[in-house]
Amino acid sequence: MTEHSEQTDSGAAFWDARYAEHERIWSGDPNTILVRETTDLPPGIALDLGCGEGADAVWLARHGWRVTATDISRVALDRAARHAADAGVAGRIDFQRHDLGESFPAGTFDLVSAHFLHSPGDLLPREEVLRSAAAAVAPGGILLVVGHAGWPSWEHDHDHDVHFPTPDEVYLSLGLPSEQWELQLSEEHERIQTRPDGQPGTRTDNVLKMRRLPT
Ligand SMILES: C[S@@+](CC[C@H](N)C(=O)[O-])C[C@H]1O[C@@H](n2cnc3c(N)ncnc32)[C@H](O)[C@@H]1O
Repeated sequence: MTEHSEQTDSGAAFWDARYAEHERIWSGDPNTILVRETTDLPPGIALDLGCGEGADAVWLARHGWRVTATDISRVALDRAARHAADAGVAGRIDFQRHDLGESFPAGTFDLVSAHFLHSPGDLLPREEVLRSAAAAVAPGGILLVVGHAGWPSWEHDHDHDVHFPTPDEVYLSLGLPSEQWELQLSEEHERIQTRPDGQPGTRTDNVLKMRRLPT
């Protein structure tokens, strides 16, 4: 990867610091939409973009997938690799460090998954990265993009200028030729999320599932 871009340094510094704040920052469980939307797929080769602490990659590997899992944060990747080793699936996951705005894992994949691939400010050219994600889907393969559709219900002190794209906006920004792609799911849903004070709050997410048609 390119080590010298200022944006890469800032992105890596931000996320390394975020992960270093606690021994673990996510639940350790796979994302529910990943489980729901991939359970019926035949296992193949998967790419997990912004894999964080690795729960999705480990779940996929446990279910027969070979996974390339990538993140900008070395702290997150080391943690994810330990999770994979503890789960006995280290041999099925290739962890790669990339700033996805600068470099992208090589190859094509039966599943490309981007769950909550967000970063503050302009640290991540998300639309551009998601277009690279679409280009990395093999014929017959799936692109699954899950993202936040708004701030958590309990966060009132936030930047009101931030625009969270709707599923339609994300889909249109990919510019996928309709004769080569089938849109399988485009939805926005609210879910319960535990607030930092332990009380239940809500968060709205959006989900896009697309299939590249076999050639
Ligand atoms: C909100 S977390 C989601 C982590 C994981 N996918 C999950 O659902 O638990 C966003 C992740 O994207 C990663 N990330 C942010 N910017 C990135 C970039 N430019 N290149 C690669 N990964 C990036 C962060 O390090 C972080 O792990």
